Amino acid sequence: MHISTVGDIAPNPSPYTPPLGEIITVAHTKGGAGKTTLTFNLAYSLAGCGARVLVVDLDQQTGQSAFIGDHEVGSQRDVGAVLLGQASLDDAVIVAVHPNLDVLPADELSIGAAGEQIDDLDVSERFHDLFDEARKRWDIVLVDTAGYQSRLVSAALRRSNGVIVPMVPEAGPVTELPTILNTIRAAAESYQQPEVYGVIKLRIWGSSVYRRVAEEQIKTITDEYGVPLFRNKVPEDARFGEAHLVGLPVGAYQASARSAVAYRHVAYELIQLRDWHFAVPDGL
Ligand SMILES: Nc1ncnc2c1ncn2[C@@H]1O[C@H](COP(=O)(O)OP(=O)(O)OP(=O)(O)O)[C@@H](O)[C@H]1O
Ligand SMILES: [Mg+2]
Repeated sequence: MHISTVGDIAPNPSPYTPPLGEIITVAHTKGGAGKTTLTFNLAYSLAGCGARVLVVDLDQQTGQSAFIGDHEVGSQRDVGAVLLGQASLDDAVIVAVHPNLDVLPADELSIGAAGEQIDDLDVSERFHDLFDEARKRWDIVLVDTAGYQSRLVSAALRRSNGVIVPMVPEAGPVTELPTILNTIRAAAESYQQPEVYGVIKLRIWGSSVYRRVAEEQIKTITDEYGVPLFRNKVPEDARFGEAHLVGLPVGAYQASARSAVAYRHVAYELIQLRDWHFAVPDGL
């Protein structure tokens, strides 16, 4: 749905609309797959389209904490503390890290303890309540997860509407794709399965035959599983590293960088795929 166009970033549609309440987990069963980078950069781009976005860091490596600038995360004020019943969501959320973009950070020890206790009734109920409350307050909640199968990842998948999978089109990672898609299905067993909103190709550079073959394999697998494959791809770009060092999404670091443009287009594509009401430029 096209609302209005003001450069690449459009204003929040008014009047007030109730939160969309979409929970989307970014998942991949391997480390270093680009989950954290994707989560924050996509969150920033969606926020730029007027969506009220919350990023939840569910990874013990606390990757999102690299993106919260000068804010301090303590074990009493993180997602782990919320799950352990030691803090409220409001205690822990860092508001307006960027316009329209809030972050629920993780502290390594605290999230570790919560992860170990996730099957306890109290913690599991708090997890459920946390996602329920987030759904009522934000349009889009993007959940960053660990690069291995853990009970926290499964708990997030079971309570998500959607899942996004980053995928580097290279021979090794591509062979993992069926495993990832099966894992997503299995994690949600006996719950309503989250829908895979799409696979996003990342770290694209050059135009080797190997890459083309890997891209074709991704297409074959996503077709087989009936999963959307994003048309827009994210290039390999050293700007991610530079932006990361100063704690910024690449769009805030250098809006004209091709990777920043790519993430904006991924956000527009997601909005169009899901038919959400947020503003995207006309004529895409
Ligand atoms: N498109 C890209 N171009 C260049 N570098 C990238 C790109 N995407 C991600 N990276 C880099 O790849 C590295 C791994 O990315 P990231 O931390 O997002 O992966 P991850 O899946 O979250 O890893 P982990 O499972 O360990 O949490 C980071 O140094 C990041 O800056
Ligand atoms: Mg990460």
